[in-house]
Parts: sequence; structure tokens; C-alpha cells
Amino acid sequence: MRDKLEKVRQESFRELEKVETIQSLEEIRIKYLGKKGELTGILRGMGGLSEEERPIIGQLANEIRDNVNEKIEQTAYFLNRKDLEKRLKSEFIDVTMPSKRKPIGNKHPMTKILDEIKEIFIGMGFTIEEGPEIEKVYYNFDALNHNKYHPARDVQDTFYINEDLLLRTQTSPVQVRTMEKQKPPIRILAPGRVYRADEIDATHSPMFHQIEGLVVDKGITMANLKGTLDMFAKQLYGESTKTKFRPHHFPFTEPSAEMDCTCAACKGAGCRVCKNSGWIEILGAGMVHPKVLANCGIDPEIYSGFAFGMGLDRISMLRYGIDDLRLMFENDKRFISQF
Ligand code: DAH
Repeated sequence: MRDKLEKVRQESFRELEKVETIQSLEEIRIKYLGKKGELTGILRGMGGLSEEERPIIGQLANEIRDNVNEKIEQTAYFLNRKDLEKRLKSEFIDVTMPSKRKPIGNKHPMTKILDEIKEIFIGMGFTIEEGPEIEKVYYNFDALNHNKYHPARDVQDTFYINEDLLLRTQTSPVQVRTMEKQKPPIRILAPGRVYRADEIDATHSPMFHQIEGLVVDKGITMANLKGTLDMFAKQLYGESTKTKFRPHHFPFTEPSAEMDCTCAACKGAGCRVCKNSGWIEILGAGMVHPKVLANCGIDPEIYSGFAFGMGLDRISMLRYGIDDLRLMFENDKRFISQF
């Protein structure tokens, strides 16, 4: 029995010298010290020993169990350390290495001014609407009271897709789409791209941007139109900004007007930007034509409204002193990153 115990000590130590993982270390522990392990097995056989031998063998068995346990603990410590060293090496981070920088872009000057304008109108209770860029001739012209021979309908000015479809030439069709699906009170702002068959130059592009506005309710008058748009101009260009309205003509409004405001660059004194007039034209507007209301199923005897439309590109160019529209669409980062 003594020999058997010594053999357990020797063999377990030999195996422990060679072990490489915590997992196989645990297997060795179970093999020798576990409930069904070799040492336990030997101790169970102690019943057959004589009175004198039993305490001696018992002491030896305890000693060997303690030795093996200790050796296992040592081995576990070294294995864990080796593992840690390996991980420290493989997971090493060089904090002095240059980082992978993701350059953050910035908003396009047009997006910036559009956000500003949206904020102003949202502050006055407007909601934002959108309409399709491929539009029905009906929505772009007929419903907006353009007669059959209106020059804007000409193929020289408008991109037609077929007899019934075109690239919208204005954001005004969103007025009609909104009134068809929503009953008054209506207060909407509809920004978007529009298309006209223009040659590209410093102030023209076949694709540009407009912002449409529409208010319909009971008792809406020209005073509401002037008050709203004057307040808009003051918020966009500063409290001291003055506005004036000149009579104009649009098929879908009656009466119609164009609004000028004092030049933000010279505060009305006259400069290169306003061609020395002190005034800048910024939008068209008017009282929604009764025929347009009726076309959309809104009774003009009960309701009235005003509408306005402005060119976003020009407003952005004025704000940032950009003198060539083409810069807006070239997407040159050297240009865009200036704003
Ligand atoms: N749609 C007009 C244009 O493209 C702009 C406009 C003028 C819109 C007057 C309006 C308005 O809503 O009332 O020239």
C-alpha cells in the first residue's frame, strides 16, 4: 500500500510537470484526488490494514494528498500567469500610434439656411410637407389655374416625361396635394427641388430649390400674409429689416405680390449685392385664388388663404456672399467646408 501511495505521488507529479492548460490540470486533479480518484480508492482499501499500520499509512496518505494539492495550486498559478502574459502581448495597444480619423463633414450652405427657415416657420405653427419631383401636369399647372396657353407650360421651359407627367417647375403643386388630403386649418411649408429647361450659368441651373408656404383657414386676409412674411424677414435677416410688397401676377393667387426686404449686406444703404437699390427681392406671394381652393374641394365662400414661394438657392447665396450658383452643385469640399 505504501508503494501504491508513492506511485500516486510520482505519477501525479510527472503529469503535473507536463500540463499546459487549466483544463487538463483540472482533469489531473479529478484523476487523483476526485471522489472516484486513485488516492481516494487507496484510502478506501485501508479497512484491511492492521491496527499498527493504519495510522502510519493514513498519515502518509494525508501527506501525499497535501503535496499533490499544493503542486496543483502552484501549477495553476503558473498557468494563469503564462496565460496573462500571452494575452498582454497579443492585446497590446500602442497608444502612441496615430488614430484612424473619420473626418466629420459639415452642412451644405443651402441645408443650413433651409434649416433656419424651417425653424422660423415651425415656430409660427407650420408643419413641413413634401411632394413628388415627378409631378402630374394637372398638379403643376391645371389645378393651379394656369390657362391652357400659359407660357410656363411650353416644352422650351418645362421638362416633360409624357403628356401627363413632368419634372415639377415649382413647389406650388404641394399646395394642391395638401389641400386635397387635409382640411383647413392648414399651415404648411414645403421645400424641395424644382426643374426648368434653363442653360447653366452663374444664376441659372436646370435644377434648383424652392420653399412653398400655404395657410388656409376661415378669415385669413392680406394682413395675415404681410404680418407673417414681415416677421419671417425680420427673423432671417435681423429685427431692423424692413419689407415692402409690390403688385405682381401669379395664376394661382389673387391679388399677388412680390416681397422685397432691405438688403442685409448694407442695411438698405445701397451696395453691390443689392445693385445700389437698398432692396432685395426674396419671394412671391398672394391670396390663394378662389378657383384653386375650389379645385381642391375647399369652399372659397367659407375659407380663404395665402401662399408664398421663394428661391432657396438665391437666399443662401445672399446670406453667404456666394456669387456663382454653380458652386452650390459642384460639391467641392473646399467650397462646402467654408460654411
Ligand atoms: N411658384 C412661383 C414660381 O415658381 C412662386 C410663388 C409665387 C409661389 C407666389 C407662391 C406664390 O405660392 O403665392 O415662380
